[in-house]
Amino acid sequence: MAKLELITKDITILDLDHPGAKDPAYRARRNDLASLAAYHRRNGLEAPRIEYTAEENDTWRIVTERLDPLHEKFACRVHVDARHRLKIPDDHVPQLCDLSERLGEFHGFGLRAVEGLIEPKIFLSGLGEHIMFCTQYIRHHSRPEYTPEPDIVHEVIGHVPMFADPDFVKLSLLIGASAAEANSEQIAILDRLYWYTLEFGLIEEPGGIQAYGAGLLSSFGELSHAFTDEVQRRPFNMEEVVATPYTYSNMQPLLFVIPSFAALCREVESLLSSDMYRLS
Ligand SMILES: [Fe+2]
Repeated sequence: MAKLELITKDITILDLDHPGAKDPAYRARRNDLASLAAYHRRNGLEAPRIEYTAEENDTWRIVTERLDPLHEKFACRVHVDARHRLKIPDDHVPQLCDLSERLGEFHGFGLRAVEGLIEPKIFLSGLGEHIMFCTQYIRHHSRPEYTPEPDIVHEVIGHVPMFADPDFVKLSLLIGASAAEANSEQIAILDRLYWYTLEFGLIEEPGGIQAYGAGLLSSFGELSHAFTDEVQRRPFNMEEVVATPYTYSNMQPLLFVIPSFAALCREVESLLSSDMYRLS
């Protein structure tokens, strides 16, 4: 893997609306896990094995218990199948290094630890090298339904199972390889594409519309909300997707539905060879 330097904001700073902001023990634990992740990343090591506490395992269990019935109703077929095949547990936080090994047997994707949010170019470029960067700390136990930042629930429940599908992997590699070569305007395009697909995408399946985006699959609030009348669910339209800014903070008001991952791959290939992208 090429040496990538991740540019993060100071991981020890938490916004006041973070549920753990006023909990010194939580902050210390989160900072410890972030430092450990940074060390392993800088030295090209696999994700460190973490001894999760009873409280952290409880948070994981509470979130998965509440997500399971929603997944039965709203998760896409790939996600449901892969979660079982990858043996993602319900009652304790899994180890990234073990999951990485199992995931690698599907289509060669691996998981690496990262200390926090990273720049889109760096994160997306990792995908092009079959690497998904994942945080290892977990959300604050007082608010299992909410995290203002990616945590291990978001990464493992939301993102990881999808990399067991060959077309989804092809899509991720396409976006990732382009990101490595992209200028800042092109990164903005790829970032929006990523947001409305891998983070918040919906897919048409024989039984109806289902979720495949990690931001939906890892959040019981977002997942229920995605199927209400408050959300516009539109057929995927590349020009609209890449021109539509998104926000992190609110529930997503607009989602795009793809017919299949293979169809989305073809759309991405067209985008990458289009003047709209090449001349950006
Ligand atoms: Fe994500």
